[in-house]
Amino acid sequence: MPRQKTLNVLILGSGGREHALLLACLASPLTASVSVAPGNGGMAAEAPCHPLNLEDVGATVALAKRIGANFVIVGPDAPLALGVVDALEAAGILAYGPRLAGARLEASKTFTKAFLLRHKIPTAHGERFTATAPALAYLKTRTLPIVIKANGLAAGKGVIIANAPEEAEAAVRAMLDERIFGESGAEILIEDFLKGEEASIMLMVSGRRYVMLPASQDHKRVGDGDTGPNTGGMGAYAPADVVTPDVERRVIAEIIEPTLAGLAQEGIEYRGTLYIGIMVTRDGPKVVEFNARFGDPECQVLLPLLETDPLALMHDCATGDLHPENVRFKGGAAVVITLAAEGYPGTPRKGDVITLPVETPPAARAIHCGTKLDASGKFFTNGGRVLGAFAHGATLAEAVKHAYALAEKIHFSGMHYRRDIAARQLNRK
Ligand SMILES: Nc1ncnc2c1ncn2[C@@H]1O[C@H](COP(=O)(O)OP(=O)(O)OP(=O)(O)O)[C@@H](O)[C@H]1O
Ligand SMILES: [Mg+2]
Repeated sequence: MPRQKTLNVLILGSGGREHALLLACLASPLTASVSVAPGNGGMAAEAPCHPLNLEDVGATVALAKRIGANFVIVGPDAPLALGVVDALEAAGILAYGPRLAGARLEASKTFTKAFLLRHKIPTAHGERFTATAPALAYLKTRTLPIVIKANGLAAGKGVIIANAPEEAEAAVRAMLDERIFGESGAEILIEDFLKGEEASIMLMVSGRRYVMLPASQDHKRVGDGDTGPNTGGMGAYAPADVVTPDVERRVIAEIIEPTLAGLAQEGIEYRGTLYIGIMVTRDGPKVVEFNARFGDPECQVLLPLLETDPLALMHDCATGDLHPENVRFKGGAAVVITLAAEGYPGTPRKGDVITLPVETPPAARAIHCGTKLDASGKFFTNGGRVLGAFAHGATLAEAVKHAYALAEKIHFSGMHYRRDIAARQLNRK
């Protein structure tokens, strides 16, 4: 662990995940200074924000050098897939996040499927295609529903679950022939449908060592009862008890250990967050996907559950000096409710004035996702997911109560949010 007040941190990103990372850094005794690029309105009120195109790796390294950053935390997937960590390291700057080789676990679904099958890690059977005719012929040999995925990054939109043969064929043609996802869909993965309940497991990894954060559950659909179109996430909670102690043991033995061993065997030194999306099926947990970074709503609930300083952990992962046995959690539960803008998940309206409460309920706070700060200190909506109403509680029910109490005190024109975040777990009890 570095000495107190020695880290000049630069956080890359502009969403709720990055605001949660900023709050953790501001609370850390290791932080000498912290800035963000490009950031959002809430972050601008708390730290210097620098304009930056996150897909410009050269400009990112130049910025980190210019402001004297000695530790960079990479929030989103795109810069990781472009090799920003490799470039920062080449410039002598330590960073949290996998290098290009490790980031492929998120950036290429066909690479990951082959990796999982090669290492006998439980996952749905799947095959890759670059041409339409063999893909359509393969579809005829499988049962419905069937899942068609663009190989590359597609901002969470590149997965189609087809319930009818015509839908499956249309999805294949849209990706391969019409290139609706551009080059991300020049190669596709067709995989079998997994039935069960989903959960996310986030690891902070340093080679073969890792810290497993409490299991969490996101809410992807825009409407109550999991209805309506998919979103970037309408809320999350942790711990998610669908991951029972038995499921957790199986995840460790059947998924985590062989994944980290497989990476090491293939010469990939993975450092950073490994997000494992699992489906808890009747036959046990299976991998749905890997991401190479924290989930956005999941990060907002997980970091506050750490008793151990998250910044120290990220730094230890990056230097290869991680000691998982020393990590402590707070107990209780955490929840975040996404407060979304009019029109989301379609084109969101921007520029509505936001009213935040002067006093927040205990252990609750607003996390900024898509906001803008003007010169007079007012916040305006500036994205689809505008704010996260976060709360920590001794129980999940208490956390949910405080988070909704906070949500009710926040106003902007067109604001909408789900009323059933964590309801599935609360109703199970
Ligand atoms: N084989 C499968 N069986 C059932 N559902 C699936 C399967 N694959 C994906 N899904 C569903 O589609 C969603 C998106 O799939 P996946 O996680 O692979 O895509 P993604 O675009 O990378 O997601 P994210 O934005 O979370 O990174 C999953 O969260 C899951 O609900
Ligand atoms: Mg993904």
